[in-house]
Amino acid sequence: MSHLSENANPLKVKNIKDRLTNCMPNSANVEFIILPYFKTIEEIPNKEDFHKDLYDFFNQANPNSTIAILCSPIFASDFCSLLNNNRAQLKLWIAVKLETPFLKKEGLVQRHAALLIFTRYKESLRHTKTRIAYTYCPFCHKTTKDYGGKKHLYHEFGTLMSDVWRDITVNFSSYPYDIVRRLQDLFGLLEYESVNIYDQRNYYRPVLRPAINYRRYSNIENQYPNHSVLINGDCFEELDKLPDNTIDFCFADPPYNLNKKYESWNDGIDIQTYFEWCDKWLNSLARILKPGRTLAVLNIPQWCIRHFRHLITIMDYQDWIVWEGLSMPVRMIMPAHYSILCFSKGRPRPLPGLAHQNHALLEKKAIETLSENYCIRSACMKMRKRLKHKDTEITSNLWWDIHRLKHNSRRVDHPCQLPPNFMYRLIALFTRENEIVLDPFNGVGTTTLTAHELNRRYIGIELSEYYYKLASERHREMEFGLDPFRKNGDAPKAKNSPVERLKKQKYQVSKKVLQLEVKNISKQLGRIPTRDEVAKFSKFPIN
Ligand SMILES: C[S@@+](CC[C@H](N)C(=O)[O-])C[C@H]1O[C@@H](n2cnc3c(N)ncnc32)[C@H](O)[C@@H]1O
Repeated sequence: MSHLSENANPLKVKNIKDRLTNCMPNSANVEFIILPYFKTIEEIPNKEDFHKDLYDFFNQANPNSTIAILCSPIFASDFCSLLNNNRAQLKLWIAVKLETPFLKKEGLVQRHAALLIFTRYKESLRHTKTRIAYTYCPFCHKTTKDYGGKKHLYHEFGTLMSDVWRDITVNFSSYPYDIVRRLQDLFGLLEYESVNIYDQRNYYRPVLRPAINYRRYSNIENQYPNHSVLINGDCFEELDKLPDNTIDFCFADPPYNLNKKYESWNDGIDIQTYFEWCDKWLNSLARILKPGRTLAVLNIPQWCIRHFRHLITIMDYQDWIVWEGLSMPVRMIMPAHYSILCFSKGRPRPLPGLAHQNHALLEKKAIETLSENYCIRSACMKMRKRLKHKDTEITSNLWWDIHRLKHNSRRVDHPCQLPPNFMYRLIALFTRENEIVLDPFNGVGTTTLTAHELNRRYIGIELSEYYYKLASERHREMEFGLDPFRKNGDAPKAKNSPVERLKKQKYQVSKKVLQLEVKNISKQLGRIPTRDEVAKFSKFPIN
């Protein structure tokens, strides 16, 4: 089995054949609803009635129930964006890998489904502590993730589970056995008895080949002067200065309102005010974008759902890319992914990154994804390259091979700068050479620097003078031939976590040997030993 749940009392499985509207889910259980994989909103039959059936089901469910819905990303975002929070709380959007990915017309390979986890209760999600097995690189056979020589400190079986499930897959034409098995254990708590499965795929069949009604725009495009700029200012004022239909790709990585410590921005405002603020800059970005081009917004899934609600009223849905950005999950079942919500202005043009073949090397690398489970240890990567071992594949809408910059020597003084590979990929996919990329929240310049390297023009707007200066400095460095993403000796001042790091210490006995010794004593005692117990049982002196 690919997961292991601690203290789980696996739930029974009940397959309920009836239509959702005839079911009365009134005792506390896990209710698992399986829907068809709708590829477009137009494929959803009688959308309002369908949503109402689901709302009614939510209303009847027991206040302690957990409700899981398996569906496509477009259905998930549309349904959640209209759901009233009083009916149920969306606790997690789990991205599950599709067994059979498919190519979206003129777009990316579609590779994930959404497993939405709702509860009727407001507190945090109740579930068992569940781990997924370590994976091993098919080339060097070491763990896919580099645990920095600390694997001995981790659980024998694997890591705690995140909200991207790639170790199992789902096929919408068959019974999702692996997901059911996982729900049985993940929610195998004493308060629940069964996972009740409502397979609704026959009751809500997709509308066959519906017409897609893209918004229509005139083909008039405005030309931006043939240069690039970094601007220190408020994006609202600066975007207002730009004419309609001017930009080839807008990318926004806004503050997420999650209390990050920015230099000149309060990242903890009232959530309603935050969303209204977002709607305003989304409107401006939609206005300045050329027809057929893409606006991509990066945010946590819950906030992207709210962006979806607004964007669907002014633009056309293009894709929902899942970016598994953490190198490893660290808490219980932890939100590890971000969403990149892509909307186009009218019918999207074919993705330039996939439609053109003559890419420069950097662009070619950006568009390729490292095949699953290959590690990124430099020795292994070098050997694979030397032996011409094929370890890449075409990028889909599920990204796992780019990790966030944490306390990393490549970071500069900003609490949440993006990794350059992330921006190379987005820009290479959505634009052509010499086109113009705009980022209204340019931070320390990841977007504009990568755009420059890929020979695109750019406009980067940043409110903070400090970050603007850091970005300008990095652009200057690049002009002098320095790599702005190089490792630098200084630890960045801006931190994501308030934990102070200890200085490196020297030990007579290696740290790993000592850690293993304490681990062994713990095993013998069945708990973490006290200092006195370590002194008593260890073969090393306590000092
Ligand atoms: C999540 S960070 C972007 C980081 C950037 N992607 C990078 O890699 O450096 C959001 C940025 O938006 C800036 N910001 C906040 N409000 C702004 C506004 N009204 N106009 C322009 N920038 C703003 C913040 O100062 C912060 O640097």
